Amino acid sequence: MTIHFIGAGPGAPDLLTLRGRDLIASCPVCLYAGSLVPEALLEHCPAGARIINTAPLSLDEIIAEMRAAHAAGLDVARLHSGDLSVWSAMGEQLRRLRELAIPYAITPGVPAFAAAAATLGQELTLPGVAQSVVLTRTPGRASTMPDGETLANFARSGATLAIHLSIHNLAWVVEALTPYYGADCPVAIVWRASWPDERVVRGQLSTVEARVDASMQRTALILVGPVLGSQDFQESCLYSLGYDRRFRPQSADSPFAAGEGDGV
Ligand SMILES: C[S@@+](CC[C@H](N)C(=O)[O-])C[C@H]1O[C@@H](n2cnc3c(N)ncnc32)[C@H](O)[C@@H]1O
Repeated sequence: MTIHFIGAGPGAPDLLTLRGRDLIASCPVCLYAGSLVPEALLEHCPAGARIINTAPLSLDEIIAEMRAAHAAGLDVARLHSGDLSVWSAMGEQLRRLRELAIPYAITPGVPAFAAAAATLGQELTLPGVAQSVVLTRTPGRASTMPDGETLANFARSGATLAIHLSIHNLAWVVEALTPYYGADCPVAIVWRASWPDERVVRGQLSTVEARVDASMQRTALILVGPVLGSQDFQESCLYSLGYDRRFRPQSADSPFAAGEGDGV
């Protein structure tokens, strides 16, 4: 018996891994975070499955469901939106399961920031412009931020920022970032990436607030950084002619010709 934590993806029902789909189909119990997980995924559950929306439940109640399934020897599919490694509340569930010696496994999913980048048709790391993406958020009612994790600290690096859980704090985000990125820094907001009603707003730090409709609440990502406006970035060395690498040695005496050296 295993609790299978499964990343349910950003919204489109077909942005689920094959492993995730097969696990859902094999589990007689499914607990899903109904606030963001698309209900269409529940169609993969086997007939007669016990299917529970955990949005209105407390942690104790969720763990009680897992304990009951464990006692009955039933596998559980536990669905959270996007990927499980960020803002999934999986950590506290895993800690309880370890204390209870209930086995679990984790199947990753497509995170919202990747879906948003796909919607924008955008690579978030461009050579010479930005080579890091910061996945972050602003403080919320339920979550404070550790002292060092301020937008200003991240902004000093010039990296691409993918700001979650913060569309209601947009004015604050703009104010915090403008001194570092400049008022003309490109911003893209992707609301409900990959859902049928997905919307995109593009602008600059100075203009974006006025372009966001009040109906675009909760499920939105704020992407900020020069990459969003860069057309004149360098090409990467990876595919450039003359770049000696393991998969494309440039001469018979290349250190890579014998399959040595690193591949990058
Ligand atoms: C609780 S976090 C979940 C993140 C998720 N675990 C992931 O891997 O992306 C919820 C936040 O993720 C972002 N988000 C989740 N799904 C999204 C989507 N389809 N489009 C845009 N943002 C999304 C929003 O910022 C939302 O407030």
